[in-house]
Amino acid sequence: MRLVMLGPPGAGKGTQVEILCEKLSVPRISTGAIFRDAVRKQTELGKKAMLYIDKGNLVPDDITDLIVKEHLLDTDCKKGFILDGFPRTVPQAEILDEIMDEMNMSLDAVVEIDVHSEEIIKRLEKRRSCPKCGRIYHLIFNPPENDNLCDDCNVELIHRKDDKREVILNRIEVYHEKTEPLRGYYRKASILKEVDGEQPIEDVLNSIMKMLNID
Ligand code: AP5
Repeated sequence: MRLVMLGPPGAGKGTQVEILCEKLSVPRISTGAIFRDAVRKQTELGKKAMLYIDKGNLVPDDITDLIVKEHLLDTDCKKGFILDGFPRTVPQAEILDEIMDEMNMSLDAVVEIDVHSEEIIKRLEKRRSCPKCGRIYHLIFNPPENDNLCDDCNVELIHRKDDKREVILNRIEVYHEKTEPLRGYYRKASILKEVDGEQPIEDVLNSIMKMLNID
């Protein structure tokens, strides 16, 4: 299955993609995670990306497109993949179509998780993630078993720098301006599936699986 997961910051894309990739045994390509890893390692890409991420702005398309192309060609994507956080602009979606054409593939579906702004702020202010494996938690809705430690790695969880209120508000604005037009783009291609993201995590997952006919 070749999927794109779309939705505002904090909608639960990463949470759902983590579970779906395991169920479908396909790789996850998360541009946000790739950038954060590069920032941690202080690579040239990381230094550039950090200037945008920390303010909640989008990393320029030319940098992002190249990374996605490399990953789609490199990773074992023949049996499928889930793109998390890409595309985020119409030009990125057009580039993705070109890459798919070159690879003689097409997308099966684009799943949009819909969540309102007040809920996004609640989720992101209390989100924590494991710096080692990337597993995502929420201090109230999806807490770790032991106080602030990853259940899998026993490593101290972190609060992302871009999960500060003023940065979250800018990320939401950027989403409305730059990413929402993708709805029309994928509706026109008849592959857009919309899911209510304000249900419990398990119910969002079941809704997605049902609409994609996954057992
Ligand atoms: P990225 O990492 O992609 O951030 P995002 O899209 O803003 O999404 P998030 O990771 O914040 O949220 P999510 O939807 O994955 O939610 P999660 O599952 O964690 O990108 C970061 C930055 O990188 C961008 O701002 C940009 O600068 C740059 N970038 C990335 N891609 C780019 C691109 N293509 N082009 C240009 N720049 C790019 O869940 C959130 C919280 O809610 C968690 O605590 C979770 O436990 C909880 N939760 C999840 N589901 C539920 C539920 N159903 N009920 C209750 N709580 C829930």
